[in-house]
Amino acid sequence: MNLKNCHNFSDFRALAKKKLPSPIFHYIDGAADDEITYNRNTSAFNDVDLVPNVLRGVENVDLSTTIFGKKIDLPFYCSPTALQRLFHYDGERAVGKAAQKFNTMFGVSALATVSVEEISSLIDTPKMFQFYFHKDRGLNDSCLERAKAANFDVMALTVDTITGGNRERDLRTGFTSPPKLTLSSLFSFATKPMWGINYLTKGKFELPHLQDFVKEGTSTNSSIGNYFSTMLDQSMNWKDAEKLCSKWGGHFALKGVMSVEDAKKAVDIGCTGIMVSNHGGRQLDGSRSPFDQLAEIVDAVGDKIDVICEGGFQRGTHMLKALSLGAKACAGGRLYLYALAAAGQAGVERALGQYKSELERDMKLMGCTKISDLNRNNLRFRYS
Ligand code: LAC
Repeated sequence: MNLKNCHNFSDFRALAKKKLPSPIFHYIDGAADDEITYNRNTSAFNDVDLVPNVLRGVENVDLSTTIFGKKIDLPFYCSPTALQRLFHYDGERAVGKAAQKFNTMFGVSALATVSVEEISSLIDTPKMFQFYFHKDRGLNDSCLERAKAANFDVMALTVDTITGGNRERDLRTGFTSPPKLTLSSLFSFATKPMWGINYLTKGKFELPHLQDFVKEGTSTNSSIGNYFSTMLDQSMNWKDAEKLCSKWGGHFALKGVMSVEDAKKAVDIGCTGIMVSNHGGRQLDGSRSPFDQLAEIVDAVGDKIDVICEGGFQRGTHMLKALSLGAKACAGGRLYLYALAAAGQAGVERALGQYKSELERDMKLMGCTKISDLNRNNLRFRYS
């Protein structure tokens, strides 16, 4: 198995599994409780069928869309995800440069291992900073100020991590940030020596947005669940979100909205977008999938703010279905993370390129030449 043999999401996943020590692979691959929501995020797409049209002259397909006032060349982008340096030594640099190549948006996590300043000096594609509301207000202000000074285009406040999800795979493997060797993980680290050599020799593991304020995650080991439960402010409410939105003063989104009620409130507090998302099934197991929940949210607020469908995408056709329901764009983490682990920037470029050609091919087969051609007439729900 090598990069040339990776033709789809599952191939990248298989190669990532080969390359990563198992605690790290399972951190990406795992989700909460019984992983019902995680699986549903993808299987939901299979309950809807595409209805194509023909004879429409489809030689030129335009996949571009506009989100948060920025035109991007693809109707999907790389969601912010944490700790990318653990998956490949180039971390966020690799993903950012690949996103730039395709002129799509790149989301940088507060738990990123490369700073907003460096990302900004490397790429000029639209950028989103993902923000957690910490108890430490100094840390919060610093994140906002740094992302603003680094000319980030969008601030996304994550609202679905008010406490840590129950990720049982992480409990079993003992995954922490930074990773620590435990008796049970020793074997898996020993069997992936290349990962270990790169981890130790290709620059220090850092969390540049957080480490001046908190020790957890950099100088002391912490599980992600524990980090969320102890560092983030559980009193966070709509007033806080509204204040952050006006303090930021630019495009502001809530990441992790699942109800129509909350989508409407997001509009009321001045958000310009929302990510309909359940955090890749990593938080509340049993919660509905973003795709299942998309139509009612688009109907309620889709004419006022950008509604982005996040999670579960493994195919171009999955994206076509979400776009047909009215999502302005699709987004995902695992979408590119296995590819990052498999082969760094080259891997992410190959994955993004594959989604792009799948979309081009499938748009032609659907009889569509631009994203706005997609609509609900293209879909039939099997069970409704
Ligand atoms: C996670 C966080 C860090 O899901 O986004 O692990």
